[in-house]
Amino acid sequence: MADSSALHVLVLAGGNSTRTRTGGPKALLDLCGLPLLEHVFRAVDPLGAGQHAIVLGPKHREPIEAWMNKAGRHVDAGGQWSIAIQPEARGTGDAVACGLEVLPQKGRLLILCGDTPLLSPETLQTLADQDGDALLTALCQDPTGYGRVLYEESGRILRIVEEADADEEIKQVGEINAGVYVLDIASLRKALAAADNDNAQGEFYLTDAAVEILRSNEGVCVCLEDGEAEILGVNTLQQHATAQYLLRERRLDELMTAGVIIDDPNTTFIEYDVEIGPGTRIHPCTVIRAGVQVGAGCEIGPFAQLRVGTQMAEGSVIGNFVETKNASLAAGAKAKHLTYLGDAEVGERANIGCGTITANYDGKNKHRTEIGARAFIGSGTVLVAPVRVGAGAMTAAGSVVLKGRHVEDDSVVAGVPARPLKPVE
Ligand code: UD1
Ligand code: CA
Repeated sequence: MADSSALHVLVLAGGNSTRTRTGGPKALLDLCGLPLLEHVFRAVDPLGAGQHAIVLGPKHREPIEAWMNKAGRHVDAGGQWSIAIQPEARGTGDAVACGLEVLPQKGRLLILCGDTPLLSPETLQTLADQDGDALLTALCQDPTGYGRVLYEESGRILRIVEEADADEEIKQVGEINAGVYVLDIASLRKALAAADNDNAQGEFYLTDAAVEILRSNEGVCVCLEDGEAEILGVNTLQQHATAQYLLRERRLDELMTAGVIIDDPNTTFIEYDVEIGPGTRIHPCTVIRAGVQVGAGCEIGPFAQLRVGTQMAEGSVIGNFVETKNASLAAGAKAKHLTYLGDAEVGERANIGCGTITANYDGKNKHRTEIGARAFIGSGTVLVAPVRVGAGAMTAAGSVVLKGRHVEDDSVVAGVPARPLKPVE
């Protein structure tokens, strides 16, 4: 086994994201609740490599660096990634040369692209475990757009030919360059210093330097025979949609393996960083966003959207056309129909009637609503936050409970604005 302490990592994200045409960097495109780049970082994390660097270009540096700081990924924010700047997007070879400026003089370097969000940690580990230099390739039904890998008859790698430089015959080759390499740093520095940009795109290709090193150092090509999905590179929004579809499938599969009942995976969208307990049933057309926690034995949907900060304790229910955000439901609480719960806390076994709205936003600030255990909120109630409904209290259908007009425990309010009902004499 190779000495992994000498392994460092470089992610390339210095391109202009021209083909996605969104104006912004593709590295930050949302993919199942996480920026594309975060998926790449998470694939790298388990390697426990030495130094980590990412190459950014001046055009997109600011938003990517801001996100890296916010996410605690940047070295300045306690993370492990340092940033190298590539002044001009002159190709992947040039990008690596820029990255090497912030990396050690010696050791091995795992290089990967910032646009391949499906790569698994296991595949990266396999590459890192090779004794010397290594290249990841894959067999593709549709190799369009990727660099094709050509071999000598002896089996030794010969060339990687980019789509733009390929003739019809080479375009038929189904083995492609996944854009993941483990290369000796000293050899890289030497090869890149001698590189040229004599190709259809006028770019300095990393592939040229990589092939040269693999040939002279007797490196290996590790081929994924069934890896077309895993190596998917997001160059266009069509590929972004495909990546999202595949990641979603992967996520739902993990959840089902862990005991979550998903009636219709085709219409269920569950993002990353969502926890769901076993025995919970998800009905069709449900969206659960990143940052949601659901306990065991709950029921959600159909047609529900759970947004960030939603917490459902054991056995609670969110039914059709219900949206929640920053809302917690204690055990056995129910909101079964047509409801918005935002910045709200719902007590144990409370029942939220059809059409209830927590009016949490006053145009400037968000405010909280507290609903006590066993409270019964009548249909069509509007709770204007900040407001509190006591334990066991009841609001009549159509009540509008004004802000600050807290409803006492076990009392009943009705009307617009809601007032306590006088006990019958
Ligand atoms: C690249 C490979 C191709 C491989 C494919 C795998 C080269 C020349 N081609 O092609 O063989 O099949 O990836 O997905 O390497 N970048 C920079 N600076 C630049 C140019 C690119 O940092 O000047 C970054 C991009 O932001 C991107 C990555 O490098 O994250 C790859 O660049 P991209 O333009 O997407 O290369 P491909 O055409 O996909
Ligand atoms: Ca790419």
